[in-house]
Amino acid sequence: MYDIAVISGDGIGLEVMEAAEFLLDKLDLNFNFNYGEAGFDCFNKNGTTLPEETVKIAKSSDAVLFGASTSTPNQPSPIINLRKELDVYANLRPIKSYKGVKSIADDIDFIIVRENTEGLYSQNEYCECDKMIAERVITRKASKKISDMAFKLAERRNKLNKVTCVHKSNVLRKTDGVFRDCFYDVSKKYPEIATEDLYVDATAMYLITNPLDFDVIVSTNLFGDILSDESAGLVGGLGLAPSGNIGDKHGLFEPVHGSAPDIAGKNIANPCSMILSVAMMLEYLDENATATMIKNAVRKVVEEGKVLTPDLGGSAKTIEMTEEIIRELN
Ligand code: NAI
Ligand code: MG
Repeated sequence: MYDIAVISGDGIGLEVMEAAEFLLDKLDLNFNFNYGEAGFDCFNKNGTTLPEETVKIAKSSDAVLFGASTSTPNQPSPIINLRKELDVYANLRPIKSYKGVKSIADDIDFIIVRENTEGLYSQNEYCECDKMIAERVITRKASKKISDMAFKLAERRNKLNKVTCVHKSNVLRKTDGVFRDCFYDVSKKYPEIATEDLYVDATAMYLITNPLDFDVIVSTNLFGDILSDESAGLVGGLGLAPSGNIGDKHGLFEPVHGSAPDIAGKNIANPCSMILSVAMMLEYLDENATATMIKNAVRKVVEEGKVLTPDLGGSAKTIEMTEEIIRELN
């Protein structure tokens, strides 16, 4: 029996989480769901985007599922704070192409490893008269930890056996200088893994011109966030982009996308990014066979192309695509 914290948030977070729970209920595994509130609707109800009770539920569960939340004016982001509370320092965002889905190249297969606890997402902004300042925190400790995670992943993936460090140290000399130096320090422990470091602006282009050259990309918080939406766009969009937030004690799994107010409430959100995040959660819980089954079922349904949500060119509702994935599972 696994205790799973379920934090749907709002917008399409509610719809894709419903799909994920529907699928989890059909598996031969036992889950006990503990529900927590967070996000915009939660703020309107409780005056906070992340109640302490939700953090407590997350901390006491075996794993956390998060949907998405709409940003609330002048309030901290619940997901950024939850990642910090759980110290899930690595945000893993796999990018893989699907046959038949409009993609910039076939066989794209890389993973972005994004530092998740500092950088420009320290949420410390202040003014000095007319000057607005945002704090960008980079520590050696977090930079080494995230690099280590990237090298371990490259070993485990055994594909190009390469890690690319993405930064902007030609301008951010102190912060990104340290990030890059820590990357090369850690690389000495992994002589079998090739290394390279690229500036983030050039990387944004190489992702489009040479996407097959990447295996594991490690970067700071904001750069990792931006490059992962770009990368999702290479392989069919945010509806197919899952993520896992991993720390030493906790794991939190969520789609890369946000609450998508443009399609919320219409039941047409693609459930795959959430369902693939569930598969990542099952891998984290060492339920590897079930995780693989889910990933294969998603791939089959997406590549068959018969029951697809509108973002992939179909006309299916969220729940219809979910049912098709479950049919494939069986
Ligand atoms: P978004 O990721 O919500 O949507 C971007 C585009 O992708 C939209 O056109 C949307 O319709 C589409 N899209 C996203 N997920 C989809 C899915 N599953 N199926 C089909 N289409 C999908 O980003 P946006 O619009 O910039 O932000 C909306 C809100 O979400 C904002 O308030 C933002 O702050 C918040 N946000 C929250 C995140 C989180 O909770 N982790 C992450 C990113 C944004
Ligand atoms: Mg993002």
